[in-house]
Amino acid sequence: MESLPILLLLCVAVCSAYPLDGAARGEDSSMDLLQQYLENYYNLPKDAKQFVRRKDSGPVVKKIREMQKFLGLEVTGKLDSNTLEVISKPRCGVPDVGHFSTFLGTPKWRKTQLTYRIVNYTSDLPRDAVDSAIERALQIWEEVTPLTFSRMDEGEADIMISFAVREHGDFSPFDGPGKVLAHAYPPGQGIYGDAHFDDDEQWTKETAGTNLFLVAAHELGHSLGLFHSANTEAVMYPLYKSFTDLAQFRLSQDDVDGIQSLYGPPSASPDDPLVPTESAPLGPETPAMCDPALSFDAVSTLRGEVLFFKDRHFWRKSFRTHELEFHLISSFWPSLPSDMDAAYEVTSRDTVFIFKGNQFWGVRGGEVQAGYPRSIHTLGFPPTVKKIDAAISDKDKKKTYFFVEDKYWRFDEKRQSMEPGFPRQIAEDFPGVDTKIDAAFEAFGFFYFFSGSSQLEFDPNAKKVTHILKSNSWFNC
Ligand SMILES: *[C@@H]1O[C@H](CO)[C@@H](O)[C@H](O)[C@H]1NC(C)=O
Repeated sequence: MESLPILLLLCVAVCSAYPLDGAARGEDSSMDLLQQYLENYYNLPKDAKQFVRRKDSGPVVKKIREMQKFLGLEVTGKLDSNTLEVISKPRCGVPDVGHFSTFLGTPKWRKTQLTYRIVNYTSDLPRDAVDSAIERALQIWEEVTPLTFSRMDEGEADIMISFAVREHGDFSPFDGPGKVLAHAYPPGQGIYGDAHFDDDEQWTKETAGTNLFLVAAHELGHSLGLFHSANTEAVMYPLYKSFTDLAQFRLSQDDVDGIQSLYGPPSASPDDPLVPTESAPLGPETPAMCDPALSFDAVSTLRGEVLFFKDRHFWRKSFRTHELEFHLISSFWPSLPSDMDAAYEVTSRDTVFIFKGNQFWGVRGGEVQAGYPRSIHTLGFPPTVKKIDAAISDKDKKKTYFFVEDKYWRFDEKRQSMEPGFPRQIAEDFPGVDTKIDAAFEAFGFFYFFSGSSQLEFDPNAKKVTHILKSNSWFNC
């Protein structure tokens, strides 16, 4: 592929060491830092010496603006204190120029079964901690693509992983402690696909220090063909971000969109598409349908089926065929969020409304409708309501109930307005429903309320709870 050697050259030019002059102080050293940052990551020509110091220099201001925009900073075109702080942070050694989410020429693996090998280890961590950090980092990409990874102990694997210091044979020497933490090459033969970690960093498995799993998740994204993302939520954002709670770590929708643009979503296993893969202790877990502790984020009907949303997945159950399927939300509706709060169907409008935080979306079949997301406050909620927990639309009475903590609001679908006299206490009008509601839907004239792993069947005419069920009672476990 034409672009690969060019890329290597680009990488040689920009991944080179980061000679910070320890003697330089104050503005001078900030200016040097800026100049090097722009040279290393934003393709500022090296012969543009003193460019940066001439404050009116158009090309440099343009580069600063490009960098500030990419890194999500206020675009001032100046080296202000926020910019200085951000460019002083540890980061990935791959530059921020080029295509948005893939490398130039869009290199990708032409096969789905990839191999990896951990060539050598850091002495900062026990071997099995390194093994499991790498395994988990591969797994987060595996879960959202058809790719699989198998480990090799010798020979040439597609992805060779090593720890090295300073000059390590690829013309992109590391820079000692701090600054550049690691780098990786896009898919291809030989060195391509490989990931190198700077062993002058203090690698950890905790949140303190430089967490190997977090850096590996990012570098392996490069090994699979993803370039940097300007989205600050993305794993592919170029700066190292520590997490106070590693269990909260997950790919952002932007990462999922990027990797699926190269490889598509995971293929359903022909054996049993409903049995999810074993879940990882970190990263986006794949929920297990028969887990007795299973809870849902939101449940809604859709054209005669019921959708059970959980994290980034959903199950769809057909009342006609009784079939159950399991999918990624993004494979049906790429622009919908994961971890949604509530969902309900208004059958008269053939629309499912999806809620997360203070926003909602309208979905018709596989299409997210134009004009969304909208603010929930356009429905008539007071500003104190920041999110809703669950919603049910009663198709006969044409009323929608919104549940928020221990209160509920009622929306008139005919008049398209919130009814006066609300909110009211849930426990007063739905006797027996006195726990926090995660999700709810209406079927066969009953309201089903989900709270953690339990489910209440409520008869709105008799105004009483008629059954107490497990949340996953619809899955025939
Ligand atoms: C690990 O392997 C890489 C690649 O072969 C090499 O450059 C590096 O020096 C090795 N590191 C150690 C600590 O032996």
